[in-house]
Amino acid sequence: MLEKIKLWNSKKTKEGSQEGIGELDKNSIPQHIAIIMDGNGRWAKKRALPRIAGHHEGMKVIRKITRIANSLEVKTLTLYAFSTENWKRPKVEVDYLMKLPEEFLSTFLPELIEENVRVTMMGDEGEIPSHTLNAVQKAMEQTKDNTGLQLNFALNYGSRSEILQATKDVLKDVKNGIISEEDITDELFSSYLMTKSMSDPDLLIRTSGEMRLSNFMLWQLAYTEFWFTDVLWPDFNEQHFIQAIEEFQRRSRRFGGLQSEES
Ligand code: FPP
Repeated sequence: MLEKIKLWNSKKTKEGSQEGIGELDKNSIPQHIAIIMDGNGRWAKKRALPRIAGHHEGMKVIRKITRIANSLEVKTLTLYAFSTENWKRPKVEVDYLMKLPEEFLSTFLPELIEENVRVTMMGDEGEIPSHTLNAVQKAMEQTKDNTGLQLNFALNYGSRSEILQATKDVLKDVKNGIISEEDITDELFSSYLMTKSMSDPDLLIRTSGEMRLSNFMLWQLAYTEFWFTDVLWPDFNEQHFIQAIEEFQRRSRRFGGLQSEES
């Protein structure tokens, strides 16, 4: 059943009225939204600022999008914060990116707790500096019983290495007789991935005009709807997020089958 919700800009106009920023069907909000937050460097360059200024501005956008996703009752928001390939960047930039989770959480953790958000992380913990990992783990611990939005940071994440690791773990379990070859299905394989307790993303957003996956959730995105925008991540706001969901709601998802009226 169609149940419309009208979204308003939180800021009032000069005349004191509120501006409508979109209309969504409450019953088909994507359960899991994944975002490749791209364009921080270009945003900074346009302003003759160092690249890290773009990352800092990008961090602030995370707060806005977390709040609106939570209020729309999205279940999971996965954010690609640092890829296994991002270590190739200059050390100053890497060091700065590794400080951002701490800064974000030291500023916003009380608000996340208040808003019932649960923080999680996926990625290879091995190479992440302990100060970064400790901050994220502390937030995970403090929010573990929250029942609202799951805010899932992909940090030192790479999809190919995730799939390779899952394959090795499956093989080990076959060798040890825990599972047999016949047990290996889509569902079983999914349960060996870092996303084992989540549904696959329904919607993927990538900002900044790039149209590639950059080693992000290659298995999980098999039937996901993609939405690309030229907007750079630091300029991304609630209105763009709603636009992406409006477009998602206009799409017909067939998962390789047919529309019911076509069969
Ligand atoms: C890609 O833009 C962005 C990143 C590699 C980092 C994204 C990180 C954040 C938005 C902040 C993370 C904060 C927390 C709390 C985890 P780019 O640098 O590749 O931009 P460009 O393509 O314009 O150079």
